[in-house]
Amino acid sequence: MPHTIALVGGTGPEGRGLATRFALAGHRIVIGSREAARGEAGAVEVLAGLGARAHGEVSGADNATAVADADLVVIVVPYTAHRATLEGLRDALAGKIVIDAVVPVVFDRGPRPVEVADGSATEEAAAILPASRVVGAFHNLSAEVLLDPDAEVGADVLVTGADAEAKQAVMALAGEIAGVHAVDAGPLRFSRFVEQITILLIGINGRYKAHTGVRIAGLDTH
Ligand SMILES: NC(=O)c1ccc[n+]([C@@H]2O[C@H](COP(=O)([O-])OP(=O)(O)OC[C@H]3O[C@@H](n4cnc5c(N)ncnc54)[C@H](OP(=O)(O)O)[C@@H]3O)[C@@H](O)[C@H]2O)c1
Repeated sequence: MPHTIALVGGTGPEGRGLATRFALAGHRIVIGSREAARGEAGAVEVLAGLGARAHGEVSGADNATAVADADLVVIVVPYTAHRATLEGLRDALAGKIVIDAVVPVVFDRGPRPVEVADGSATEEAAAILPASRVVGAFHNLSAEVLLDPDAEVGADVLVTGADAEAKQAVMALAGEIAGVHAVDAGPLRFSRFVEQITILLIGINGRYKAHTGVRIAGLDTH
């Protein structure tokens, strides 16, 4: 059954990259933006990248309109916009599965972690959105790889959360991306480790001029 997936801040590379992969899996995608016109332009870009490949519907809208009809919502804004964006959408996100992919990072002569009082961006989202089903996922997938619809991603998606059913839905979604395995990474309190792996990856990417991801060795699901 296809999902309707809204990407809040979906005009950025990570949002468009995930949109590309979810559309390839046949889902209906709405690219959200602070400005409806930018959301629509983001949808046009995603559709151009998909070319003649079979895909689900892709459209754009302002963030509030985008989330209204969605059953899955992915948060892909910079960490500096995380709290205000979620507070502004709190009522609209009630009852929905909210996937937080935000990495608390600043760039100051290289990537540096931002201290989050709640422990992680995902836990912060859960605190701001008590009526939503918050799951952490997709932090470690490089936008550059996602944006190439023919690239085999070949990486794991580490999924954290307190709601087992919501987590299963997100793991199933992640598993639809070519070459991705979803791994249950545990409860929300482990989100900080998953988020901060990305800071390590950004540093490695810079040194090796690569777009790296993570693989968990030793699982018989792989
Ligand atoms: N890039 C990657 O490879 C990657 C990988 C894993 C995780 N992530 C995480 O995914 C998130 C998105 O990454 P990105 O590289 O796509 O980010 P980005 O391009 O910097 O931002 C994404 C979108 O967020 C919106 N935005 C920017 N400032 C905002 C503000 N003050 N208030 C509300 N919305 C704002 C903008 O959309 P509008 O102007 O259209 O509203 C922008 O296009 C980040 O948290 C990042 O840590 C990124």
